[in-house]
Amino acid sequence: MAVRVGVLGATGAVGQRLIQLLDPHPDFEIAALTASDASAGKTYRQAAKWRVDSPIPDDVAGMTVTATDPDDVPNDVDLLFSSLPSSVGEAVEPGFCDAGYVVSSNSSNGRMDEDIPLVIPEVNADHLDLLEVQRDERGWDGAMVKNPNCSTITFVPTLAALEEYGLEKVHVATLQAVSGAGYDGVTSMEIIDNAIPHIGGEEDKLETESKKLLGSFDGAELSLNDVEVGASCNRIPTIDGHLENVFVETAEDLTPDEAAEAMRVYPSLDLPSSPDQLIEVFEDPERPQPRLDRTLGDGMSVAAGGIRESTFGLQYNCLAHNTMRGAAGASVLNGELLLENGYL
Ligand SMILES: NC(=O)c1ccc[n+]([C@@H]2O[C@H](COP(=O)([O-])OP(=O)(O)OC[C@H]3O[C@@H](n4cnc5c(N)ncnc54)[C@H](OP(=O)(O)O)[C@@H]3O)[C@@H](O)[C@H]2O)c1
Repeated sequence: MAVRVGVLGATGAVGQRLIQLLDPHPDFEIAALTASDASAGKTYRQAAKWRVDSPIPDDVAGMTVTATDPDDVPNDVDLLFSSLPSSVGEAVEPGFCDAGYVVSSNSSNGRMDEDIPLVIPEVNADHLDLLEVQRDERGWDGAMVKNPNCSTITFVPTLAALEEYGLEKVHVATLQAVSGAGYDGVTSMEIIDNAIPHIGGEEDKLETESKKLLGSFDGAELSLNDVEVGASCNRIPTIDGHLENVFVETAEDLTPDEAAEAMRVYPSLDLPSSPDQLIEVFEDPERPQPRLDRTLGDGMSVAAGGIRESTFGLQYNCLAHNTMRGAAGASVLNGELLLENGYL
């Protein structure tokens, strides 16, 4: 029997990707769609300005969008994928968990809370058991798991692959696509023929979320990894796909060949949305590129290339699709992990 799921913020950019990934899905069946009060009561086709590169699934198009309120979501829905603006998520997500729903959320609120697992399944699936601590502390019948920021998800799997060499210092510079800011986030007059060397709050997310993802969980408490991470974030005029330049200093000697091999063999999982190859490593120094490589593994792989020695340690570039691996796909993968681990 498929698990009945809902999408909070279903009409937005990430919400539309969620619907694209969930209809059809082998384990999940869409049973609820929510958005703002302005969309409530409309059919999904009326409420959503559909901009995804496949048609609205017929069964979803005719569903009625409700307000984002636990009273409006059927009780037999077990799992909610949240793609709400973080200020809205902060206000409403805990109420859904209290009402018994399990929430797999994209929104940034609560990502660094000590009792909220921040999970990339291939990197730190064991952190999911923090949900036991969360339920004890918050008294929730439901639960909350978060996926990281899209630019954090892009480089952390490559760091996880190198962890055995002892991560000491990392600097990452991002070249982020405009879709990461949402459809109305950056105007064409701002971004065409331009690059914007600041994305509010983004650097802090890369610097802190990476330490939590690479941290360790002893069954009761989560300790942050003590790697030092510095980030600088840039918006560039690509549509999808965040490209990042990474410099890593490790305790052990690490050659470019060893780094490439460690990334190549870093395992994927066997969940329905897992890519066959988690990290695709290119020999060609001109790859990965957003337009050519963002859809590797149906948008769920990370690509790496340009691996070489530098004055600042190992240097390489990596890329991931920001609304697939970086947002909707990340939430769905966390939902699949919740199901596999008996949380649904
Ligand atoms: N875009 C990315 O690449 C990306 C990547 C990672 C994480 N995220 C995060 O994912 C979340 C969604 O991003 P997005 O780009 O999809 O945003 P978006 O396109 O602006 O969509 C926002 C959604 O939330 C709903 N909403 C807005 N205000 C609401 C309210 N007061 N109450 C209930 N629902 C409300 C909107 O409904 P209406 O249509 O009715 O207004 C819409 O469904 C954000 O937290 C963002 O930071 C985005």
